[in-house]
Amino acid sequence: MSKLTYFGHSAFMIEHNNYKILIDPFITGNPFAPIKAEELAADFIILSHAHGDHYGDTENIAKRSSATVIAVNELANYAASKGLKAHNMHIGGSYEFPFGKVKFTIAHHGSSSNEGEYMGEPAGILLFLDDKVIYHAGDTGLFSDMKLIGELHKINIALLPIGDNFTMGINDALKAVELLNPELTIPMHYNTFPVIKADPDKFVEMVLKTGKNAKKLNFGETFEF
Ligand code: NI
Ligand code: MN
Repeated sequence: MSKLTYFGHSAFMIEHNNYKILIDPFITGNPFAPIKAEELAADFIILSHAHGDHYGDTENIAKRSSATVIAVNELANYAASKGLKAHNMHIGGSYEFPFGKVKFTIAHHGSSSNEGEYMGEPAGILLFLDDKVIYHAGDTGLFSDMKLIGELHKINIALLPIGDNFTMGINDALKAVELLNPELTIPMHYNTFPVIKADPDKFVEMVLKTGKNAKKLNFGETFEF
């Protein structure tokens, strides 16, 4: 059994075959984080892009637990320049890691470091864990190639932003569910800041009404898959 734990915003921990994989570990500064960054350890940290609410506590956690940071080339180089172990990838490419395969997809957004430096293209993340496929959309607006992503990969769990303002809002995320056709959708990137206030229960209800499955994870909740 593998586990998916939600820390709020776009931060998730996946535990699979004794590996701990963190995605977008923004803990410090997240008012809903159910844990402190100091309590987290990981073997790998996968980043969708460089914005502070995704890069977050990467340096603290990676240094302490010797985690390898997986990101697009520019951001991986930045992580390496901070003394972290990094694996450089880019959009459209996949690579087999000890825990499973990672493939980066497009995402329509921006990506810059806290210092304002350009950090390459933002990405979505496909994770292939034995027979399960997880899609973390990163920060993105709706795009029609989601249909292609859904055609190429039978997605079991889609993690989609619904907070609007910086990313898809609820209505566009509902369209994304139709295009991606995942078995289960879990909303993310909402309510952390006033400008991304959104109702995850309403989103879940809207998805369920279309005959597809969705579930809200509470902050700190673990889901087994
Ligand atoms: Ni962002
Ligand atoms: Mn964000």
